[in-house]
Amino acid sequence: MKSILWIKSLVMCCMALLVSTSTQAQDKSMLWSRQVNGQLWLDTDGNHINAHGGNIIRYGKTYYWYGENRPYSGGSTEAGISVYSSQDLMTWKNEGVALATSTEAGHDIQRGCIMERPKVIYNKKTRKFVMLFHLELKGRGYEAARVAFAVSDSPTGPFRFIRSQRIHANQWPFDMDEAAIRAAQQTDASQWKEWWTDAWRREVEKGMYLWRDMKEGQMSRDMTVYVDDDGKAYHITSSQENLTLLVSELTDDYLDFTGKYNMVAPGGQNEAPCILKHKGTYWLICSGCTGWSPNEARMFSAKSIWGPWQQHPSPFVGVAQGNHEMPANKTFGAQGTYIYKMNGKPVFMADIWNPRHLSQSLHLWLPIEFDAQGTPVIRWKDHWTH
Ligand code: DGJ
Repeated sequence: MKSILWIKSLVMCCMALLVSTSTQAQDKSMLWSRQVNGQLWLDTDGNHINAHGGNIIRYGKTYYWYGENRPYSGGSTEAGISVYSSQDLMTWKNEGVALATSTEAGHDIQRGCIMERPKVIYNKKTRKFVMLFHLELKGRGYEAARVAFAVSDSPTGPFRFIRSQRIHANQWPFDMDEAAIRAAQQTDASQWKEWWTDAWRREVEKGMYLWRDMKEGQMSRDMTVYVDDDGKAYHITSSQENLTLLVSELTDDYLDFTGKYNMVAPGGQNEAPCILKHKGTYWLICSGCTGWSPNEARMFSAKSIWGPWQQHPSPFVGVAQGNHEMPANKTFGAQGTYIYKMNGKPVFMADIWNPRHLSQSLHLWLPIEFDAQGTPVIRWKDHWTH
């Protein structure tokens, strides 16, 4: 009798243990289910995270996620740039608007402008948080093609708008010699009504749009910012009618350009640049230019930020599964925004755009793996742990 009672209590103990372990497992999976790729990602208030085209930084023990605050309808910016905070990269608290649009008529960031692809970096020397973003002026569609600067003492803002500008007016890329400059000066963009012919492409490669915009300054649309191991920061942007990428060095305070820049893949039509440095090699992952529709990613590598850049096939392999079926040759339906290193391991952050309701665009984070040759590979995962 005694032994039956003992077995009974042992069984009950085991059952209690099992229940508690499975509750813990359930808690953990509930936590992760907040970030299932291809589904809405809710913040601590239960709202979908409205931070698109942005980036993440870590300051102290807290992570900050910046991004475009998009309205439910319409393509222009009403509120500004959002910021969320997290201790674990899974649970995100809405910290409000880090950089607000202006109510002043004619202001560069007047409500109704378009603010895209904000990137915040921390400057250790000045102890300031610096934000760069793509700005389009109110009512002018995408023709202004400017980069804008804002600064803050605190990661959650408020950021103070500094200025917006075209870039490198009257400056040639540092690696263009006199013969290349003369060749560019002989091009004439106004003569080319028909694009995409071989002859037109040759002129683009010579720097036809670089020359066209020499006085006004170069266009800057989709962009990212990269801080290298030595603390130097670089701006990488889609320029020349989105045909050519420019890599530009920023000043030590990150608030201006030094004037040193060069072109990457002239005529290659790359946008949404994301950059990663792994074992001494820089990897640039971009998209093609098809508006809000997904396309096949492109990848380049170089031993120096100044190139030369070598093109590789897209790093995306396989098919997105579950409720979001999209092939690798459509970047799983997404477009990159940033590569963030979580505990040293790179994560590709992207947006699955919903152009009818931009605020509802989904987030996609996937770990970047490396094959035996050290080349990045990105596979679909519904969710994953680090
Ligand atoms: C693609 C860009 O990557 C986005 O940031 C946005 O500018 C859309 N084009 C607008 O069509």
